[in-house]
Amino acid sequence: MRRRDMHQGPTSTIVSPQPRLHQNAAEIQAYGTVTHLLPLDLEEPVRLEVTERLNQLLADTMTLRDLYKKSHWQTAGPTFYQLHLLFDKHYGEQAELVDLIAERIQVLGGLSIAMAHDVAETTRILRPPRGREEVPVQLSRLIDAHQTIIRELREFARRSDEIGDAGTNDLLVSDVLRTSELQVWFLSEHLVNAPLVIAKEAPEKAGAA
Ligand SMILES: [Fe+2]
Repeated sequence: MRRRDMHQGPTSTIVSPQPRLHQNAAEIQAYGTVTHLLPLDLEEPVRLEVTERLNQLLADTMTLRDLYKKSHWQTAGPTFYQLHLLFDKHYGEQAELVDLIAERIQVLGGLSIAMAHDVAETTRILRPPRGREEVPVQLSRLIDAHQTIIRELREFARRSDEIGDAGTNDLLVSDVLRTSELQVWFLSEHLVNAPLVIAKEAPEKAGAA
């Protein structure tokens, strides 16, 4: 018997005010797996496929969320205040979606991707430079990121319906897709080249005096 066992008995019975620091142990579930049995009436292969695709969507949504914060901080020019606020509003909405998607994965018995390194390796959204870019470029980048996600969403929504996962289908359509479509509208309207102060004169009608 080891010295500690002789004097203290099994560790689980020790009563002590000392926090047990620096603990470590093997993982209890590997990434990319789902728990075998859940009372959801959704078979394991369905939950495996859906959680894998949800993790792709999660990585892309986390990247879009962070792209909004980068844009919020780095935007410049005459529309600074308006865009600074708009980008942060969209950031907050994307952050809520991140939580909904991540927790859907957990509900289905899977494991959500979480850390920046793993997200960076997984996302399909193009990496922006660290430096500051012009407003039209910021807007274009955000719209392109939305488009990547929307394309993925439409196909995934069809598939989730086909394999009977109505809960995921509802999340994809009602929450993620609808939010993304609305945000794209708000961004795109900033790229319409409309006069700000002086209206463009209408061309004279042919034959007018
Ligand atoms: Fe801020």
